[in-house]
Order: sequence, then C-alpha cells, then structure tokens
Amino acid sequence: MQVLVTGGMGYIGSHTCIQMIEKGMTPIILDNLDNSKQSVLDRIELVSGLRPLFYQGDIRDKTFLDSVFSKHNIDSVIHFAGLKAVGESVAKPLEYYDNNVTGTLVLVDAMRRANVKSIIFSSSATVYGDPASVPINESFPTSATNPYGRSKLIVEECLTDFQQANPDWSITLLRYFNPVGSHPSGELGEDPQGIPNNLMPFISQVAIGRREFLSVFGDDYATPDGTGVRDYIHVVDLSAGHIAALNKVGTKSGLHTYNLGTGIGYSVLEMVKAFEQASGKTVAYNIVDRRPGDIAECWADPAKAKTELDWSASYDLKRMTVDTWNWQQKNPTGYPD
Ligand code: NAD
Ligand code: WQD
Repeated sequence: MQVLVTGGMGYIGSHTCIQMIEKGMTPIILDNLDNSKQSVLDRIELVSGLRPLFYQGDIRDKTFLDSVFSKHNIDSVIHFAGLKAVGESVAKPLEYYDNNVTGTLVLVDAMRRANVKSIIFSSSATVYGDPASVPINESFPTSATNPYGRSKLIVEECLTDFQQANPDWSITLLRYFNPVGSHPSGELGEDPQGIPNNLMPFISQVAIGRREFLSVFGDDYATPDGTGVRDYIHVVDLSAGHIAALNKVGTKSGLHTYNLGTGIGYSVLEMVKAFEQASGKTVAYNIVDRRPGDIAECWADPAKAKTELDWSASYDLKRMTVDTWNWQQKNPTGYPD
C-alpha cells in the first residue's frame, strides 16, 4: 500500500510513517519543511531501517502535486500538513485559512485528477469548541473559538459536502485530543520552534533547564484542583489510530469520523507532578491568569474508534512523560539543522 503523507516530516506524521513502514506500507512524504527539519528523515531511517521517499514542496502547489501523483500509484493520502498554533492563527487568520483550507482543497482536487479516492484528515478536538459536558462523543455539536479551530471545522465541512457529492470516496476525519510523548527510542519527538504553546513541551523544557518556570494558566476552573483538564494521548497510540483507520475504513466508501483520545483527563498540576516523577527534576511553576479562549475540561469518549476501528490507546501517563523526557534528554535543542 502506497500512502502519500502530507506533513510527514512533522511531529505526528513522522511517528506515523515509522509505524506504516513497520506494517509493510510505503509512506511517500510531502512536506514544505515550514515547521520541520530535513534531519527527521535520517531519524525515520534510523528507527525503521527504511528511508521513505521525500518530496519537498507545498500542498498549495497544484503543478507540484500533479507531478508527485503522476509518479506513483498512490492508494490513499494521510493529510497532516497544516499550521497549528492557536495564538498565531488569531494574529494571522489569512495565513491559516490559506494553508489549512485552501491547501486541503488544492490537495483534494489533485487527488481527484489522479483518481485517488481515500483521504484521512488530521482534525482536532478543538472542533467541539467549549463542550456542554464530558466525555465528548462524535455527535456533539461543533463550533470554533479561533481561526485555527475554524480552519479545521471548515475543512471538515468541505470534505463532508464533497463526500456527499462523491459517495465512492472514503473520507476519514480523525479528531485528535492532546498529542504528547515521543518515540520510545528517543530519536523522534516534538520539536517546537521558539516558545512552546503546548503544555507538555513547555514542562519538558523547564525540566531540562531551557526555561525557568511554567506559567499555569489559571487555577480557578471548576475542576478538582482548579487547573485545566485535558485528554493527553501518546503519539505512538495516535499514530496507531491512523494505521487502524487506513486498514478498517481507508478502502470503505463513506464519511468516517472518530475521536482519537484515551478517555482520561489529567489536570495541569497532575501533568507537572507526573513529569517530575519521570524526570527526577523539579518543574518550577507560577499560577497566572487564565489563557483567553481556554476551556475548563475536555476529554474524549473513545468508544466509537474502539468498536469500529478496533483501536484504543494503551500508553499510560507514565509512558507519555518518560518518553518525552527521554527525547528531551537525547535532543536538548531538538532535531539538528
Ligand atoms: P507539525 O507542525 O509538527 O507537522 C505539520 C507538518 O506539515 C510540518 O512538517 C510542516 O512543515 C508541514 N506543512 C505545513 N504547511 C504545509 C504546506 N502548506 N505544504 C506542505 N507541508 C506543510 O504538526 P503536528 O503536531 O504533527 O500536527 C499534524 C496535524 O495534526 C496538523 O494538521 C495539526 O493541525 C493536526 N493536529 C495537531 C494537534 C497537536 O496538538 N499536535 C492536535 C490536533 C490536530
Ligand atoms: C493544555 C492545558 C492550558 C501551556 C491545543 C489546541 C488544540 C490542539 C491541542 C491542535 C490547558 C494549560 C498550557 C502553558 C498551561 N492542537 N497550559 N501553561 O489548549 O488543550 O489544545 O493543543 O489541534 O486545538 O487548542 O493544549 O497544551 O496548549 O494546553 O497552564 O504554558 O495546559 O491552559 O489547560 P490545549 P495546551
């Protein structure tokens, strides 16, 4: 099975490529390296024993896409490529709509020309907005609270309309909760450029001494310890969810929507404590004001993926923190240039 992996040099894409290779699938990576480095390819080869084909270019480049599709018999596309920083999306909404929405439309149009009718799209739990209750299942109402989230929601809606008009296509929307962790080898992991937006890489950089302290965004939420609660999922489990989706529904026409989460919520302070245990380091923190747009709690009902994809998360919080710390120690400043 040949699978075009857009954004395959990124955090989730690179981990997914490794598992595809392990399962005998052939990933072909397409990435513009906007948020990743060429050296990721060396690491994929080191861990998997195989160097995937890599095309450097942009999903908005129609001619480039046509040339890639014309060279290979691609069975399916996993579409990770996109911009993902919520705060940046508020400052640069056009860039986000162009990259995430236009990019996806240009990609699907190229797939149509190439007669490739199967796509798995990286969506996000952010499409549930501020949920009325937890756990969240796939039939909950969707909404957006920022341009990043809206870009994901618009793409979901475009793909839904497109699938209705083209019922022989297989379109899978995977709604990720909070991906964390690293490959157990410590060779691949999350490598945010600049100041991390997300909790786990921030904690990890405090533990290694790159940052002085963590700012905990609010301790007055209606949660057990007052800090925000999220469904953190190990990136290896998340990657396995893509393989399960490819195998179970990737060749089945229809629109398929799944939460990829663990079904368990942890608070910010629980994450800090778990990381301290895994690393043996103290993670200094200060309580500061809430971050605008944040919600109190968010975790998945993962039952649908379990029933239909035969997939569920198996890595616990300890593995999430131990593996993140292993990657951080082996690569204190991330991937080499
Ligand atoms: P990432 O930034 O590590 O990976 C995305 C990759 O896409 C990068 O390598 C980047 O260079 C590439 N890219 C971006 N724009 C491109 C373009 N126009 N053409 C070609 N390549 C392009 O991000 P990630 O964490 O691996 O996330 C992957 C996908 O999952 C994204 O679509 C993201 O929105 C979605 N997602 C991520 C999270 C998360 O917290 N990490 C949560 C939910 C959903
Ligand atoms: C987690 C918790 C923060 C940083 C975002 C996107 C979502 C998805 C995943 C892409 C919250 C708290 C964080 C810090 C803190 N991405 N926190 N100090 O906000 O749940 O989700 O990433 O699709 O769309 O919105 O993740 O890791 O930023 O925050 O106290 O320095 O940690 O308030 O409670 P979030 P996060």
